[in-house]
Amino acid sequence: MARILITSAIPYINGIKHLGNLVGSQLPADLYARYSRARGHEVMFICATDEHGTPAELAAAKAGMPVADYCAQMHEVQKNLGAGFRLSFDHFGRSSSQRNRELTQHFAGQLAEAGLIAEVEERQVYSNADGRFLPDRYIEGTCPNCGYDRARGDQCENCTKQLDPTDLINPRSAISGSTDLEVRATKHLYLRQSAMRDQLREWILSKTQMGGNGQPAWPVLTTSIALKWLDDGDGLQDRGITRDLDWGVPVKKGTEDWPGMEGKVFYVWFDAPIEYIAATAEWADAGGRGEGAWERWWRTDKGAEDVRYVQFMGKDNVPFHTLSFPATILGSGEPWKLVDYIKSFNYLNYDGGQFSTSQGRGVFMDQALSILPSDYWRWWLLSHAPESGDSEFTWENFQASVNKDLADVLGNFVSRITKFCRSKFGETVPEGGASGAREAALAAELETRVRAYEGFMEAMEVRKAAGELRAIWVAGNEYLQAAAPWSVVKEDPEAAAAIVRLSLNLVRLYAVLSQPFIPDAAAAMMTAMDCDDWSWPGEIGAALQALPAGHGFSVPEVLFRKITDEERADWQQKFAGVRN
Ligand code: MF3
Ligand code: ZN
Repeated sequence: MARILITSAIPYINGIKHLGNLVGSQLPADLYARYSRARGHEVMFICATDEHGTPAELAAAKAGMPVADYCAQMHEVQKNLGAGFRLSFDHFGRSSSQRNRELTQHFAGQLAEAGLIAEVEERQVYSNADGRFLPDRYIEGTCPNCGYDRARGDQCENCTKQLDPTDLINPRSAISGSTDLEVRATKHLYLRQSAMRDQLREWILSKTQMGGNGQPAWPVLTTSIALKWLDDGDGLQDRGITRDLDWGVPVKKGTEDWPGMEGKVFYVWFDAPIEYIAATAEWADAGGRGEGAWERWWRTDKGAEDVRYVQFMGKDNVPFHTLSFPATILGSGEPWKLVDYIKSFNYLNYDGGQFSTSQGRGVFMDQALSILPSDYWRWWLLSHAPESGDSEFTWENFQASVNKDLADVLGNFVSRITKFCRSKFGETVPEGGASGAREAALAAELETRVRAYEGFMEAMEVRKAAGELRAIWVAGNEYLQAAAPWSVVKEDPEAAAAIVRLSLNLVRLYAVLSQPFIPDAAAAMMTAMDCDDWSWPGEIGAALQALPAGHGFSVPEVLFRKITDEERADWQQKFAGVRN
């Protein structure tokens, strides 16, 4: 038994996430958390909402709400949707928490003490009418390149040219429309990441190969992005970690004021990953557990030296997690837990294009649950996780997978065997008969496949694990088809009883094995078998005898229904446009 700390990249607060976001971090992290718990490990599974920064301010303004209220409301919405998808977080925190505020200020103080923070004088646009400095995207004007009159200070949406606010013709404040703007000098803090380049390189290079204790090498997607940013990208330039915004963690050096930094907050990407730690402290607070309860996951001087820490994220998040956040952790000079393994994902596309939050394109978490239960989505998304390259959601593919894997193979097996048993033997596991060569062959195949499934799950090879689970379901279906108890029962009821007994045991075994992917259906299968034995199978022959003759069961409701062509066409059309 090991202790496993699992974090999913924390989703931005500014709106409901789409299925591409879900499959890029939260969902596979949940798969791994569920599997790890099922194997008896002690798991801490953490996520949160990422609540600071300009996008949060803009979204709140658009909703006509104070930003704190907006964040509180959207946090509840995202938390409930996570529960709807059965994401089994130990805690779903908030980066705006008091815990994160204190920890962020603490890290900044430590970094300053280590000489890793530079104070830099900058010139920035100040709006007299608004009484504040304006971030680049809060300044609008005419694009010098194409003449578009609503270009933003960071980029022109029309011609995509990257801009500086001072490039704009007739600049105005996007908040008030005021043109009473001036350039003022202001001070900002920079994290001197470049001073840590060698230390970070050594650490990342050590992850490109298998490490001691059989620690696997990181996925190439993770290390290639990290090394690219380390050497030839902008990734390891010293980063500005403060902003002139109202909404964020106020800049402090530990608990002390930071002269010259009054009214400024930390940059959202500085405080967001620290929330992984803070959310674990929030978890401890919520349960009245005390400091030691969260520190044993995060402080190597307080018990975390034997924790294995795994992070899940989309590829766009890799630079921050391989360079900036480790720079914060290492630079603090304190014994905080560094990540052991980073599982990253490519993008999921939507029906010939991209999922897009800003354009409202694709299927969003709330919409998905409004048309089908979470297991349907979980199965499709995980079995098509964008691991080796980008993958694509199409309604045809979704319909085909659900109808075949879930309805025809798994659902049909469960319904067929339970109904047959009820009609011939009643609602108890029948006795009599003995296993033969066919049963031995099935057990041997399952033995091989279950061990392969374990290997893929441990390695977080999500698609391969799904493929193996599907093959495990298929093996049971094919066995039942070939053994044909509905024919055998006419001549030899005892032989039929043995087939049925084995098959009912398969239903329980399927519940245990499938639970990480489709937890609701797994619970329904287990309940139908009137059982609560979720123990992970050791030797398969033994696992297939858990339900003895005479044990009661019931026929469950249809586990998975098929998606009709009509529904598919309907949804295809409904979700073709943009969400309003
Ligand atoms: N909010 C970011 C995103 O959705 C992820 C932040 S992950 C963290 O891309 F580590 F910074 F917290
Ligand atoms: Zn332009």
